[in-house]
Amino acid sequence: MDYQLEGPYVGAIDEGTTSARFMIFKAGTDDVVCFHQIEVPSIFAKEGWCEQDPEVIINTVNECIENACRKLRALGGKVKDIVAIGITNQRESTVIWDRKTGKPLANAIIWLDNRTGSTVEDLLKTIPNNARNINYLRPLCGLPISPYFSGVKLRWLRDNMPTVKKAMDDDTAMFGTIDTWLMYRLTGGVHGGVHKTDVTNASRTMLMNIETLNWDPNLLKFFGLPRKILPEICSSAEHYGDIAEGILKDIPITADLGDQQAALVGQQCLAKGQAKATYGTGCFLLYNTGPAIVHSTHGLLTTVGYQIGRSAPPFYALEGSVAIAGAAFNWLRDNIGLIQNTSQIEAMASTVDNSLDVYFVPAFNGLYAPYWNQDARGVICGLSEETTSEHIVRATLEAVCFQVRDILDAMHKDCKIPLAKLMVDGGMTVNNLFLQLQSDLVGIHVLRAKISETTALGAAMAAYKVVEPNYNMEGPLSKSDKRVPIKPKVKSSERNLRYEKWKMAIERSLNWETSTL
Ligand code: G3P
Repeated sequence: MDYQLEGPYVGAIDEGTTSARFMIFKAGTDDVVCFHQIEVPSIFAKEGWCEQDPEVIINTVNECIENACRKLRALGGKVKDIVAIGITNQRESTVIWDRKTGKPLANAIIWLDNRTGSTVEDLLKTIPNNARNINYLRPLCGLPISPYFSGVKLRWLRDNMPTVKKAMDDDTAMFGTIDTWLMYRLTGGVHGGVHKTDVTNASRTMLMNIETLNWDPNLLKFFGLPRKILPEICSSAEHYGDIAEGILKDIPITADLGDQQAALVGQQCLAKGQAKATYGTGCFLLYNTGPAIVHSTHGLLTTVGYQIGRSAPPFYALEGSVAIAGAAFNWLRDNIGLIQNTSQIEAMASTVDNSLDVYFVPAFNGLYAPYWNQDARGVICGLSEETTSEHIVRATLEAVCFQVRDILDAMHKDCKIPLAKLMVDGGMTVNNLFLQLQSDLVGIHVLRAKISETTALGAAMAAYKVVEPNYNMEGPLSKSDKRVPIKPKVKSSERNLRYEKWKMAIERSLNWETSTL
């Protein structure tokens, strides 16, 4: 084996919305030795619903582990040289299972699922008239009341699934976000599996107090949920337990972070004022606010960024979440047939100089930050006889860029300091035209991550820190940083004019049923 790829190694389980992967890094570096990735199917049983089978999720993760380890051996590496495992995961997605059997009581409700609109309405009705609004719980948990978060999904499960209600009443139910479910099963399930989560994942449930980092009795009372179903909240980097069986048996799990927070770490945005955007199914922009909690008054989320060790201070972040980014292209492909595959996007969009004033707001299931409107719907406006598929594809790229501008403007208002540069990662960042558009439409320097797998890298970095305390997470990674920023090429007058038109399209999306514009 190439000596540069000899152990020790760190493994990272990255369980995302559309696929799971297991990545093996050379410890303390961003060198990927090998990996294996498998798609995880979603189940769309009704309009607005999105579920996944928790058994399929754990089986897929195990298959990724087996295959990646086989590849490691084929390269001449030894599995026993994997010194630690980190877990990173799609956040908010909600799993509930039976304490006695270890089996799920329902499919996982995925973060994108929008079935809980009426649960939100019902919860809002319990708030006194003079204080009734979606931001009522923000001082406690940093989040607006929205179908996005686990507490609302759990409440729906309690209200709509008698088996879940009974298991909650009988104290036989266990709740977890995807990290918790994976950790429980990987450490033994009913045979001594641990029931734990970390502060980043817990900060997405609406049940954790953002200051104390403990489950909050007032939040539990508000949602009508019992304390006993909840996992223990740990830091993002500590020894949670060991893998109970299989090829990784006895290897410790030492990191657990929600995927967007892991990308913040993987991008080394470890100082106050640094920010990253990850473009996947959705787009998630996190701005590190250091050990200080910043409560947003402009529609952003206050979330925990990471806590590297029990005795370390938590670092917080302001987050702007966009529900539909890359998923808009899947829609163009699968529902409309405008493209055959997503690899065509850059070439198609490059054949036209602009979008010919077409604006596409892909609010399929409402709009997240900074609008938090579950009734908004998708609109395409500005169509003319000259509009072609290429213009619509380009407008779809621009839609992602404009949504990021919405969030950066809100961050500017909340933090007062304009962001000078944005670190970007995720699937869409292979597209050079897209990054130029992002820079042009926001007026910011854009820096593409050195490796695309920053999410897994962040989990691996945190995991290694636990077994090698001298490892400097802020130090240079293996390759020197020679990245050239992508700079804006359009005038601010043009940028601002285009943004004004985007805002008009947003108005139509928000008021699509009643608009008299
Ligand atoms: O909040 C949802 C987010 O964690 C999903 O990320 O990368 O799986 O789309 P991703």
